Amino acid sequence: MPERIFIGVAWPYANGPLHLGQIAGAYLPADIFARYHRLRGNDVLMVSGTDQHGTPITIRAELEGLTPQQVVDKYHAQYLDVWEKLGISFDRYTTTGTDNHRQVVGDLFLGLMREGLIYPENGEYAYCANDNRFLPDRYVDGTCPHCGFERARGDQCDRCGRTLDPHELIDWRCHICGATPQMRESEHFFFKLSALQERLRQWVESVGQGIWRPNVYGFTMNWLTEGLRDRAITRDVEWGVPLPIEGYDDKRIYVWFEACTGYLSAAIEWSEGRTDGRTWRDYWSDPDTRGYYFIGKDNIPFHTIVWTGMLVGYSDDGNLGQLNLPVNVPANEFLSLEGQKFSTSQNWAVWVPDYLERYDPDPLRYYLSANMPEFGDADFSWREFYRRNNDELVATFGNLVHRVLTLTNRNFEGLVPAAGPLDGDDRALIERASQTLEDVAASLEEPRFREGIGKAMALAADANRYIDLKAPWRTAREDRERTATTLSTALTAIAALKTALYPFMPHASERLHALLGFDSDIMADGWTVNPPPAGQALQTPTPLFTKLDEGTVEREMAILEAQTAR
Ligand code: MF3
Ligand code: ZN
Repeated sequence: MPERIFIGVAWPYANGPLHLGQIAGAYLPADIFARYHRLRGNDVLMVSGTDQHGTPITIRAELEGLTPQQVVDKYHAQYLDVWEKLGISFDRYTTTGTDNHRQVVGDLFLGLMREGLIYPENGEYAYCANDNRFLPDRYVDGTCPHCGFERARGDQCDRCGRTLDPHELIDWRCHICGATPQMRESEHFFFKLSALQERLRQWVESVGQGIWRPNVYGFTMNWLTEGLRDRAITRDVEWGVPLPIEGYDDKRIYVWFEACTGYLSAAIEWSEGRTDGRTWRDYWSDPDTRGYYFIGKDNIPFHTIVWTGMLVGYSDDGNLGQLNLPVNVPANEFLSLEGQKFSTSQNWAVWVPDYLERYDPDPLRYYLSANMPEFGDADFSWREFYRRNNDELVATFGNLVHRVLTLTNRNFEGLVPAAGPLDGDDRALIERASQTLEDVAASLEEPRFREGIGKAMALAADANRYIDLKAPWRTAREDRERTATTLSTALTAIAALKTALYPFMPHASERLHALLGFDSDIMADGWTVNPPPAGQALQTPTPLFTKLDEGTVEREMAILEAQTAR
């Protein structure tokens, strides 16, 4: 029975180009997971979209002298292009600016209100008398009361990760003009998280304990132990999703409250107008569907507490029916660049569009998979990129494929030879090939991506050793049957690698599939070793990967320095 898998991926703010840290943090792991499950024959729906509201967007718009919508359009188009080129295979990638999204957010809001989980309350909010406006969280700067970090923002401290209210900041300042804000009265709606505390704790313990990554479980449990506080979910701003009730035209729904709803609204959008009988309800209401959310660690509480709280609290007699909770939220930690934190303001970043102008997608996918910040932070350096490309992709995997295809071409007119009797080495490699698929699958189910790609590459190394041992270039002169058996066995290992590496490097695997002489869709293989049958004509071999030249590291470092100096 195929399984049904729902995959939600963090919605990037449309406030600048994507950098490699975001790819390693959420998009690549989600895509690997989706591709693996699809290839297994499972039924996958992977959605995300551009998070187009909130102060990150308005701040960026002011910076670029554009309207918020212009900023959104610009980056949304850029993101779509990145997904296409990098091979991030969303089933639906939308934005939070659609009518459908507004509708779904409204339904959820009203449903929670009916349950008494959303209530209005007057309170005092940061207001700048200079600028004549209320200051949303990110428009207030100051020192974190928990850890003393001096550049904390009104919503969150980037050092200790705690979420904050602006007035908690020590020495608070207006982000626009630097003046000390005042408090002024305003009415806002609150999400009654305090009422969900016990239900959330039970849920987290039952699905998460011993299964979620330790950082995700720990972070979430800390929140629960500190006690959940009700949170304001509306703001005095103009840019955002309007409230679904009359009389609040000058307020919008807080971006975090509506953005997560995108997981649901994107699925509904995907569902619209389909004729194949699949519907969003299959992914949202069928209790057998497993939901996974791929996010960066800074987004953990919003997913495991706030979003889940919304789902837990929503009554199933509302418009939307019963809604599934996540089974896992495999958040990644951070990627640094040459030992330093990625920084948009200082331009310390490798921007994905720039990378894609100069290099192929798969070497990046490879390096970020093999060095994924899953259980701790990890670093991207150009030297390592260079080394992994040249020593691992080119010298190990690429070389294996090239040797075997060239030898087959030379000795068997490019036709897959029929194997003779197998000896112990042959049998061991064939056994190892199918075992590798099982092992990689076990890692990906967890998910543990680094481990998975490591196991696959270990098979490539073993296959190279096997070829060295069997020396088919030598046996070709005296023992044609032995040579045929060796090459046929090696082709079986290569076919297994094609499958095992497909989730990580889909472009290379598709090329390899064609090189092996298949004209079928690679998806038809499934997650099994499917060696090219004897007699199948291979394509004329061309290298799968390109060796990077000596100057690569220096050139890239110079680019980084130059863009930082600007
Ligand atoms: N836009 C947020 C960020 O970039 C992530 C939002 S994830 C969502 O940090 F699910 F809430 F949309
Ligand atoms: Zn001000």
